[in-house]
Amino acid sequence: MKAIAHQGEGLDGATYRDMELSDVGQGQVCVRLKAAALNHRDIWTCMRAEPGGPPVILGSDGAGIVERVGAGVTDLAPGDEVVVNSSQDWAGRAEVPLGEYGVGYKILGFPDHGTFAEYIVIARHQLEPKPGFLDWREAAALCLVGITTYRALFTEGRLEAGHTVAIPGIGGGAATQALLFAKAAGARTVVTSRKPDKLEKARALGADLAVASDADWGQAVRDFTAGRGADIVIETIGEATWKASMAALANGGRLVVFGATGGGLVEIDLASLFLHWQSIIGTTMGSREEFQDMLAFTEKHQIHPVIDRAFPLAEGVEALRYLDGAGQMGNVVLDIDI
Ligand SMILES: NC(=O)c1ccc[n+]([C@@H]2O[C@H](COP(=O)([O-])OP(=O)(O)OC[C@H]3O[C@@H](n4cnc5c(N)ncnc54)[C@H](OP(=O)(O)O)[C@@H]3O)[C@@H](O)[C@H]2O)c1
Repeated sequence: MKAIAHQGEGLDGATYRDMELSDVGQGQVCVRLKAAALNHRDIWTCMRAEPGGPPVILGSDGAGIVERVGAGVTDLAPGDEVVVNSSQDWAGRAEVPLGEYGVGYKILGFPDHGTFAEYIVIARHQLEPKPGFLDWREAAALCLVGITTYRALFTEGRLEAGHTVAIPGIGGGAATQALLFAKAAGARTVVTSRKPDKLEKARALGADLAVASDADWGQAVRDFTAGRGADIVIETIGEATWKASMAALANGGRLVVFGATGGGLVEIDLASLFLHWQSIIGTTMGSREEFQDMLAFTEKHQIHPVIDRAFPLAEGVEALRYLDGAGQMGNVVLDIDI
């Protein structure tokens, strides 16, 4: 089958090529993928891969149609429409993965083969019904950013209606999804971007305040909230935005971090942290239970993920380079069989 796989070093190691599809084992399902979505993780995977390792199909996000099921799978059948949960082998809502399926925690798309391919063979418990109101691109794009931002906002951030949520770097797929979820939950939202056109698009998506990333936006959040600050800051950039993110945080506020695209080494003023009862919380992905809750929340509020641009599977390497250039506003997707 055709796939975008990585072998070698950096983005140059990603190629469109033929890959073998494995047999469908006990408890597994073969899905014919209709669409997949890119995440910054795919770029990290290319950058960090061992040069001498075997080729690995990239991609964590996908949606498609069940092609065939393995022994023991009785609740899915060929023709069913599904989405892929890339947070592997984490079942129940818990602070950390508990190894419920008897194997260690992994994220799909390395070391296991991912979704940038015509087919994927995957454990039954990694699949959920595709929300009917989403098209294939939207369904694929929702998965990884959906579970991560849902957990970051609700489980870790303890978001309630009326809270203020600050989201620096709104161009990212995760950031736009966090904006949509926060708005649907009744929050007031402040976003930042380095690009004026993205600030405009964010306003159109419902951002209450949109400011330049290099402005004193910590102060802008305080002005916007009559001095109080943001109850929750969603950090995915790191070094470039950290200082303003901390300055934006309210007394008792929670800075939830799950990415460091702009570098991971930051300074923390401990006295300021404890004197303002603030928390810095790290999180990654989420459990199957949270994935199911996220799908239900998305359906209830009819939330359509933001699609920036679609590339055919054959142009997946160009799509990776486009994402690496940070020109996107929302999610970059691959059309596989649309
Ligand atoms: N741990 C997890 O479970 C998890 C899950 C999802 C994502 N992540 C991580 O979260 C991060 C975001 O991922 P993503 O795929 O949504 O988007 P992304 O491709 O990393 O882009 C995020 C956005 O950050 C802004 N940005 C990047 N570098 C910047 C800099 N130096 N200064 C200021 N702003 C900068 C840009 O926004 P503007 O163009 O608007 O300025 C960019 O569009 C990544 O690091 C990813 O690995 C982690």
